[in-house]
Amino acid sequence: MKIAILGSGGREHAIVDKISKSPKVNKLFCIPGNAGTENIAENINLDISNFKDIAKFIEEYKIDLVIVGPEQPLVDGIVDFLSNKGIKVFGPNKNASQLEGSKIFTKKICEKYNIPTAKFGVFENSVDAHKYLETVNMPIVVKADGLAAGKGVYICGNTESAKNAVNEIFKGKFGSATQVLIEEFLQGEEMSYFVLSDGKTFKKFNTAQDHKRVGEGDKGKNTGGMGAYSPSGLINEELDLKIIENIVKPTFAAIKEMGETYKGFLYVGLMIKNNNPYLVEYNVRMGDPECQTILPLLKSDFLDLILSCCDENLDSQSIKWDNKNSICVVLCSNGYPGTYKKNVEIDNLDKITNTDTIVYHAGTKMINKKVCSIGGRVLNFVTISDDLKKAREIVNKSIESLNWNNGFYRKDIGFKIIDR
Ligand code: AMP
Ligand code: GLY
Repeated sequence: MKIAILGSGGREHAIVDKISKSPKVNKLFCIPGNAGTENIAENINLDISNFKDIAKFIEEYKIDLVIVGPEQPLVDGIVDFLSNKGIKVFGPNKNASQLEGSKIFTKKICEKYNIPTAKFGVFENSVDAHKYLETVNMPIVVKADGLAAGKGVYICGNTESAKNAVNEIFKGKFGSATQVLIEEFLQGEEMSYFVLSDGKTFKKFNTAQDHKRVGEGDKGKNTGGMGAYSPSGLINEELDLKIIENIVKPTFAAIKEMGETYKGFLYVGLMIKNNNPYLVEYNVRMGDPECQTILPLLKSDFLDLILSCCDENLDSQSIKWDNKNSICVVLCSNGYPGTYKKNVEIDNLDKITNTDTIVYHAGTKMINKKVCSIGGRVLNFVTISDDLKKAREIVNKSIESLNWNNGFYRKDIGFKIIDR
């Protein structure tokens, strides 16, 4: 088979790597890819927001399957666009992708189907929103409705900053806004829970714990994710059952009731308190860096699972996992998540000799035959082990051996279960 993967992050490098191990694969393309995917696939420099160009390439090269990594093209309807041309594509369609594309859409489903989530209000102007903010306890969470690359969420400690957040959103900081979402602040610990769905059945696709804050001890600004480990230390049978019965099943029922089918990954972002799950958000794709820590544990053929979702026979598959722990630590450019230098050479990649470490590229590009950084999150270091602490030591040592002056990383990924 000829397969194209869309995206250029660590998640996509991990997907390309895993798919390449399937005996069914003859040729892989990554659009646009990074310096890591280039070693396994042919990178194609196309803009993934230009669906026409993508379709033209797919048709010209007679590609059998397209796998979409990031959310933006999914929310913009790439699956509908390519499917209408008879192209096989893995991921949810535009309507179903509203689960990530509109936080208010998801909250309304939660309300209707009694899915546990933070209490909320939706406001259409700042006067009403401000009035409401005068009546609630702090902290409070203010959110822009649409996609905002993880930036449209404000956790506010006082009324003043909450009002400012409302004003910024209505002023169009995250695109023109007619509504703002205000929700109760949930206490607890976060967990990323993944599901694979073919529209008829779904199966759990492991769990992970992401560290979103830039600083050690989970302090400082939010980022795309500084590291993750899998499985999450919070998961247990009882919790699993609650997540499936109280959150996942009613959500798929809601999608069905809309007359839609959900095919693809569903990322269930949860807050866990007293072994009870509360939905924080949905994403309609794999997580990044969760994907990089989960896929190395997968023992089943990843391509077969994806094809079975496209062909609606996921029930015939069993998903097998390596019963170990894995950890992913992200090496970032100094300054991230603020401004950082680009096009800095990463010259010691050959010094990472530890064969237990997998390196997935993210914001990298080959420039004049040299691997250079072009993004905030640059490289993902992943190791599998029986012992998470040992895994972290191996990974951190590998990052040290790279000795890249332009970067930093969190040495404490997994601290809540490793260092407790
Ligand atoms: P979201 O984009 O909705 O996932 O929000 C980004 C991050 O903000 C989440 O991963 C949480 O860490 C935090 N967050 C969002 N909503 C809440 C909430 N209601 N209570 C506490 N933390 C939240
Ligand atoms: N790691 C968070 C995300 O993928 O959205």
